Amino acid sequence: MDRKISFIGVGPGDPDLLTIKALKKIESADVIFWADSLIPEKIINLSSLSSEKIKTSGLTLERITSIMIERFNEGKIVIRLHDGDPCLYGAVKEQIEILNQDNIETEVIPGVSAFQVAAAYHQAELTIPEITQTIILSRAEGRTGMPEKESLQDLARHKSSLCLYLSARHIKSSQKTLLEFYPPETKVIVGYRVSWDDGWTEIIELKDMEKFTIEKELIRTTIYIVSPAINCTTNRSNLYSPSYKHLFRNK
Ligand SMILES: C[S@@+](CC[C@H](N)C(=O)[O-])C[C@H]1O[C@@H](n2cnc3c(N)ncnc32)[C@H](O)[C@@H]1O
Repeated sequence: MDRKISFIGVGPGDPDLLTIKALKKIESADVIFWADSLIPEKIINLSSLSSEKIKTSGLTLERITSIMIERFNEGKIVIRLHDGDPCLYGAVKEQIEILNQDNIETEVIPGVSAFQVAAAYHQAELTIPEITQTIILSRAEGRTGMPEKESLQDLARHKSSLCLYLSARHIKSSQKTLLEFYPPETKVIVGYRVSWDDGWTEIIELKDMEKFTIEKELIRTTIYIVSPAINCTTNRSNLYSPSYKHLFRNK
């Protein structure tokens, strides 16, 4: 049998947003590493009672990977859960590299990311024809520096839909920069612990982003979606227009 360690995206919190593939892996795992600061217990409770559950928030990369290797070599089914989708700010590459160097095969199972769920709650389409056709996923500069060519100024210049992860602590400077490019009334979806039992989302205006963040005492687990497409007057797409013929509708 092809044995692998699976890195699994579990979505932003609500277990109903797990993929069937992720659920099957969770149910059959012997050892589960989970990012406990970002994943609710409800998801861990879907695993077998006998499985070993290891919280990763207090561990180093070296410790996590050495326990993973140990358990895997004992013949156990080992999985690692990440919130949202692992390809976004998941720090999966460094874990995968260490495991692969030890000749352990790995795989990544995708998950639903926080921005998608926050947009869905407001039935927002972030790509409206002639308004914006682009979504930028980024973060404010914090302890993790930003590459020079990806400064918020450079990203905001596009006036596209812009999703900011990991940015609540830096919202003052972010708002100031964004206001250089977007109108102050631009709508922003703010989502806190989206899809958790105590989570919420709200639409505010860009000019109020800092004030709102302070009032709500947002520091962690907050997503911002700044977009001219939110609550805009819709320009209809070509796709369903009677005058637009394409492969699947040529009459
Ligand atoms: C380390 S990053 C991981 C992102 C994750 N991989 C994803 O695809 O959503 C953590 C950040 O993602 C965002 N985030 C994750 N889960 C969230 C949730 N349930 N509600 C709001 N923001 C969330 C927040 O910006 C948080 O600071």
